[in-house]
Amino acid sequence: MAVNVVLITGGSSGIGAATARILAQSGMKVYAASRRGKLETPSTDIIPISMDVNDWEATQLAVAQILRAEGHLDAVVVNAGSGIYGPVEGTLEKEARSQFETNYFGALKTIQACLPVFRQQGHGRIITVCSVMSVLQLPFQGFYSSVKAALLSLSESLSLELKGSGIQCSAILPGDVATGFTGARKFTAASEDPASPYREQMARNLKKIEADERNGMSPDVIAKAIRKQLLRKHMAVRVIPRLDYKLVGFLVRILPAKWVLHVLSLLYN
Ligand SMILES: NC(=O)c1ccc[n+]([C@@H]2O[C@H](COP(=O)([O-])OP(=O)(O)OC[C@H]3O[C@@H](n4cnc5c(N)ncnc54)[C@H](OP(=O)(O)O)[C@@H]3O)[C@@H](O)[C@H]2O)c1
Repeated sequence: MAVNVVLITGGSSGIGAATARILAQSGMKVYAASRRGKLETPSTDIIPISMDVNDWEATQLAVAQILRAEGHLDAVVVNAGSGIYGPVEGTLEKEARSQFETNYFGALKTIQACLPVFRQQGHGRIITVCSVMSVLQLPFQGFYSSVKAALLSLSESLSLELKGSGIQCSAILPGDVATGFTGARKFTAASEDPASPYREQMARNLKKIEADERNGMSPDVIAKAIRKQLLRKHMAVRVIPRLDYKLVGFLVRILPAKWVLHVLSLLYN
């Protein structure tokens, strides 16, 4: 079944905006949802929607709005999210929960709003934007790593539940991408404590991860990987865009965890 109508969450900037542009250029009708409800770079080819993924009613209304206008919805790109930075020690429960609110429960609400529509149609595609950090962990990003691992598990469990339904799931695991993600990252109170025992370690670590992100790949690389899946008859369940990150993903899978953590410690501590 060809994909014509797509909803993208977090479509106002970064990976979501690039995906919206590239899918629209391929002739798809794209609805780009975000809290601000408008695109960073306005385009007449993309329809912006105001939708906070943490608001169940707004999420259902957005899906209903698309159905009223188009009569069907073929795919959803579950992409809205942001990062949080800080040591596990001293992070407040409410800070850890806030990381799961949008990135996990917001994604879940989006998927749950689309599933009945897809089931009734007998077809639909769910692309979930996870991260290479779904499969490898970095210091001071324990909550972001945890939530992206949870999201990958959700996507792959769901793909099993949906066998034979005509609904497909694919998880995309980007590496570093140059977007507003770096500037939007939140910092826990513990990470800003001048007396923190992790102060020097965090300073070195943050310098590296921010530089890696700022020098990261263009969001177009991820957008094209998403388009490729939407154009395939059978989507891959897990996709790591770009060869170098694919290799990282492969090594993480085959090497003992102790070795992987040792290398990560050398690079990121
Ligand atoms: N950049 C990277 O290196 C990288 C790597 C791997 C994975 N990712 C993942 O890629 C996804 C997109 O991030 P990005 O890099 O493109 O960052 P970005 O430029 O900051 O985009 C984040 C998008 O999410 C939207 N958003 C945030 N909270 C929302 C909410 N509650 N409801 C609806 N929309 C919300 C933002 O729009 P509003 O502020 O208008 O709501 C924005 O459109 C995230 O899930 C991120 O974890 C990024």
